[in-house]
Amino acid sequence: MTVPRKLHIGMSLAPTWLSGDAWRRADSGVEGLYGGDFYVDIARRAEAAKLDFAFLPDSLFLNTGLIETGMGLGSLDPTVLQAFVARATEKIGLLSTASTTFYPPYIVARQIQSLNWLSKGRAGWNIVTALDGNANFGLTDMPSPEERYARAAEFAEVVQLLWQSYPADALKLDRESGQFADPSRVKPIDFSGRFFDVKGPLNVPRYGKAPVPLVQAGASNAGRAFASSVADAIFASTPDKAAAAELRADLRARAEGHGRRGDDIRLLPGLSLFLAPSRSEAREMFAETNARLSRERGIATVREMTGLDLSDWAAGRNVTAADLPPPPEKVRSRTHAQLLRRMIERDSPAVQDLLRRPEVVGSAHWQVVGTVDDAVEQIRDWAGSGAIDGFVAFPGGSTGVVELFLEGVVPELSRLGLFRTDYSGSTFFDHLKED
Ligand SMILES: Cc1cc2nc3c(=O)[nH]c(=O)nc-3n(C[C@H](O)[C@H](O)[C@H](O)COP(=O)(O)O)c2cc1C
Repeated sequence: MTVPRKLHIGMSLAPTWLSGDAWRRADSGVEGLYGGDFYVDIARRAEAAKLDFAFLPDSLFLNTGLIETGMGLGSLDPTVLQAFVARATEKIGLLSTASTTFYPPYIVARQIQSLNWLSKGRAGWNIVTALDGNANFGLTDMPSPEERYARAAEFAEVVQLLWQSYPADALKLDRESGQFADPSRVKPIDFSGRFFDVKGPLNVPRYGKAPVPLVQAGASNAGRAFASSVADAIFASTPDKAAAAELRADLRARAEGHGRRGDDIRLLPGLSLFLAPSRSEAREMFAETNARLSRERGIATVREMTGLDLSDWAAGRNVTAADLPPPPEKVRSRTHAQLLRRMIERDSPAVQDLLRRPEVVGSAHWQVVGTVDDAVEQIRDWAGSGAIDGFVAFPGGSTGVVELFLEGVVPELSRLGLFRTDYSGSTFFDHLKED
């Protein structure tokens, strides 16, 4: 009998369970949103379930069109917040997000390595090339995706060189001899590239020997090329199993092309969960949560991603491949635009259904609206088909869903042999490399 490989599971600490109208529930705890305890509570529960990591995405702009009804992509700084969470947890990996388009690499190298010290080896870096925010950084436009990925590749190289520039064992702290650090082991990096000139070394030594896991999000051709060269894991949007299987196989082949092992890169799609004791309750919660999601916003999303304007279309009319104009030259995320086109080409959905699909309302994530058993069954199916190496959970609808996931879905996955029952190591990298 073959022993199933263990999944790697992360959970969003960004409170997706308060999205839509869910924050208006009496027990939502929304008042804690801009404090630390709210996140510590969730992270501790995720640690009790032995998850690989708690994850914070990020953006560097406020969408003022959305703040009348929700967070509008505003949040506390993720690395500062993870440092707060680090103090109250012991084992769980802490994945923060930093944009390679807007930050300088020296700052990111220092912040993530600082988090690594504060958490004793539990920091991870989610590398994003960002979707928006240029106006906050003196840029009239977002640089093209090619430009952003070229910069990201150089950025990641600089960060890794900086992390090597002051090795852990260069720090001596030898009271007897009076040697604090061995200067012969601390080297400048003298990096000069297309985007960055960085002398180094970093002014923080490296914590321990375990690598800081690198995670990447963005699955266009350029995104895959970049991710397969450096990332330990890919955070992806794969609304269906075939999309995940294709992406996983492609990333593994590309990683091998870079002289890495296929197993060095783990595909962890986002999994949006609306869970309740019965399917009808779950569907009701999903509908209630998204009740105020305006038709206009959905139509604007479809227009932005495909160029198709559905404003005058009847709700019951089907949208087919033939209706799609040539893809717009500029979209915020080609990954999301391609997933939406693919779904329309495959399913020809009616307008009213299209506007409720995860590709339009839910970042195109894999979605389960149902019971704990439904979620377990789907995860088992995707894992058994070799479509995923794990996933990043995004509970939605209510705080109760966080509980159903951590105390219902995860223990059942452990019982089935698909997930660990305890941590065997203490760093984020230890968790990721467990089979
Ligand atoms: C699943 C997923 C999650 C992402 N998360 C973030 C994020 O937290 N912050 C951010 O600025 N950009 C985020 N992005 C944007 C990507 O970093 C990238 O800029 C964008 O997808 C364009 O790259 P692409 O052409 O490869 O899709 C995300 C993209 C994907 C697909």
